[in-house]
Amino acid sequence: MPKSYSSPRGIKDILAPSSRDRRNLISAFEKEAALAGYKEIVLPVFEEFGVFARVGESTEIVQKQMYDFYDKDERHMVLRPESTAGVMRAYIQHRPTTPWKVWYEGAHFRYEKPQAGRFRQFHQLGVEVLGTSDLAADVEVIALGWRFLDAAGTNPKLLVNSLGDVKSRSEYTKDLEKYFKGHIKGLSEQSQQTLKLNPLRVLDSKDQQDFPIIEQAPMLSDFLSQEETEHFDGVCQGLSDLGIAFTADPRLVRGLDYYTRTAFEYESQNLESSQSAVGGGGRYDGLSEDLGGPACAGVGFAIGTDRTMLAMQESPSAVSDLDVFIADVAGGRAAMLIAEELRSAGISTDRAFENRSLKAQMKLADRSGAQLALIIGEDELAADSVSLIELRRKDSQPEKSRQDLIPRNQLLDEIQKRLQKTGKNENKA
Ligand code: HAM
Repeated sequence: MPKSYSSPRGIKDILAPSSRDRRNLISAFEKEAALAGYKEIVLPVFEEFGVFARVGESTEIVQKQMYDFYDKDERHMVLRPESTAGVMRAYIQHRPTTPWKVWYEGAHFRYEKPQAGRFRQFHQLGVEVLGTSDLAADVEVIALGWRFLDAAGTNPKLLVNSLGDVKSRSEYTKDLEKYFKGHIKGLSEQSQQTLKLNPLRVLDSKDQQDFPIIEQAPMLSDFLSQEETEHFDGVCQGLSDLGIAFTADPRLVRGLDYYTRTAFEYESQNLESSQSAVGGGGRYDGLSEDLGGPACAGVGFAIGTDRTMLAMQESPSAVSDLDVFIADVAGGRAAMLIAEELRSAGISTDRAFENRSLKAQMKLADRSGAQLALIIGEDELAADSVSLIELRRKDSQPEKSRQDLIPRNQLLDEIQKRLQKTGKNENKA
């Protein structure tokens, strides 16, 4: 017996109706982004390792989670773990006029321990604004993500912080390191390891043992320059002006190293707290130079599509897209011709195969969620007609007596009329 296969660990197939809900979510995001002047960018799914090596040298994403490989020319490549560095690489390569406002969607890859809401292939929706350090761009970006998550029904909570710039952060990091070293015995083993790599990341520990020590740790806000403080205050003011509720969280750090100044996260109050981050982002004014480009400020976010779907309280309706289902017990040729004609007229149509019994085909019609069923038997063929049933009509009459015989040359008109009546196909007449 040949081996049978499952999808790789931590990676799931997305079948209907989830695939449809996901597609709807992407469309809603595209609309929201387009309303604010963002254009789509489609990036490579893998890039040279160096593009992502700088996004978090001290973070797990770079240390442990990269799906990297050598191609046949011995080039070191990586499946993208995120897209901000990819967008910046594209900016440096193409030099579009700024501000450059882009949105993206797609699969990303991190070799993580799979669990609920954490996958090895996951999907992100994101925006980036490159070429401006105006705090109004931070506000626009944060508001866009918030509006989208709110409209999707994820019950979002917004946390914001300022991470300062390289100078203020390095002074803070030194102070923090000194503080944590003074409390090293009380820290969890994981945090003791993290401390060696990046003291800032200890603030992000999820281990309860660390909480009292983190609580008393020095604050980054005490190290910010006046300009940085003004930037952060301006962002907070902008969010208040737009009526967006937020929590200023001085302990918020992000899992990537490139952030400067504004950092934020969207949590869903519908999810367990360990996986409640449905999105996050911030400003990354030094990333372009890290990647060998010119000075170029940037701000953006990414939202996890999979987690957003888990967080949507009301799962979007599982309503079928299908208009018509054809049951043909007279050989199948009529089904083939009618399906083609209806599809050309923009009417979504499915049919049964394999010439099964009428009962079996009507069962499929019912399951398909179609509005209308067409039946073609020998009698219909002889009369150059088709029987039509409104499957979703709520009345107690048996199906047989609700069947109307429609002459073949009036079929398209009749179907369009019936679909309009159900309100489903207003645009298809
Ligand atoms: P991130 O916080 O690493 O940021 O990822 C953003 C979101 O992607 C997370 O909040 C989460 O919803 C989702 N996500 C991340 N990893 C997984 C996973 N293993 N399984 C399921 N969902 C996951 C970034 O990626 C930055 N590039 C965001 C950004 C854009 N910053 C500036 N611009």
